[in-house]
Amino acid sequence: MNNLKQQIVTLKKEKNAIILAHYYTLPEVQEVADFVGDSLGLARKAAETDSDIILFAGVHFMAETAKILNPTKKVLVPDMSAGCSLADSCKAEKLAEYKAKHPGYKVLSYVNCSAAVKALSDLIVTSGNALKLVNQLPEDEKIIFVPDGNLGDYINRMTGREMLLWDGACCVHDHYEVQQLEKMKAEHPEALVVAHPECRREMLEKVDFIGSTAAMLNYIGENEAKEFIVVTESGILYEMQKRNPDKVLYTLYPGQPERDCVNMKKNNLEKIYNTLLNEEPELLMDEELRQKALVPIQRMLEMS
Ligand code: 13P
Ligand code: SF4
Repeated sequence: MNNLKQQIVTLKKEKNAIILAHYYTLPEVQEVADFVGDSLGLARKAAETDSDIILFAGVHFMAETAKILNPTKKVLVPDMSAGCSLADSCKAEKLAEYKAKHPGYKVLSYVNCSAAVKALSDLIVTSGNALKLVNQLPEDEKIIFVPDGNLGDYINRMTGREMLLWDGACCVHDHYEVQQLEKMKAEHPEALVVAHPECRREMLEKVDFIGSTAAMLNYIGENEAKEFIVVTESGILYEMQKRNPDKVLYTLYPGQPERDCVNMKKNNLEKIYNTLLNEEPELLMDEELRQKALVPIQRMLEMS
């Protein structure tokens, strides 16, 4: 283990801290984490930990979710500027105006949104539980879905709903091109294709499996095929390859790190070390906002 990694491990023990990391973070970040997961798994872990400090290596809304679920813990964020284009595409004021124009509608929000948007929501879903939760709602429920238009469109198609969709998108997944997938498929004709539901409809129609990061990992682990094209952020290849050393995995854009999520990649070992050492930046939240945002997240955890 290199020196910086060793120092982080020592600091974690001294401070009774846990490091939670998303699958899209850099391999070396995943290596120092106590738990690596998808949004749902990370939220669950954050809720149940008894460590004094949660260092969240992911993006801002994920750290907010940890604080909402476990407010007595100190939540540290290696880089406060690590946001999410989806979360940014839905401002709470705009959603409040939209809600006012649609009386009788319930607000269903993808977890990739701010605490302020969560506070205006009736239920939160992640890509890992969205279909299951929507199927539990009354069939005639009128629903506004925010902020991901692609995920919302996918849920509508899979459940037969007609949710009103916010016009938000992930700047990584929404930019994937079908033409590039066709090229990769032609080069690797035996490969199966897995994709995240944040991709556009025309992309999702061309793949073999659609699911959250954790669901894609499970699918590849259980499938007998030997080659896969993975249509999501390339950070996940680290855990996929670790779990499946005998399989051949391709990202959609081999050798093009500029296609990755710049915000996830802002987490690095140096920042994690300094953040743990100085116990800052710390994520703080207004208690009234936290309590309001907690209600739809708790509902999600109970239903999923
Ligand atoms: P998951 O919930 O599948 O981990 O996705 C989070 C995310 O930000 C995808 O872009
Ligand atoms: Fe947000 Fe997209 Fe990055 Fe996921 S990949 S954190 S949705 S910007």
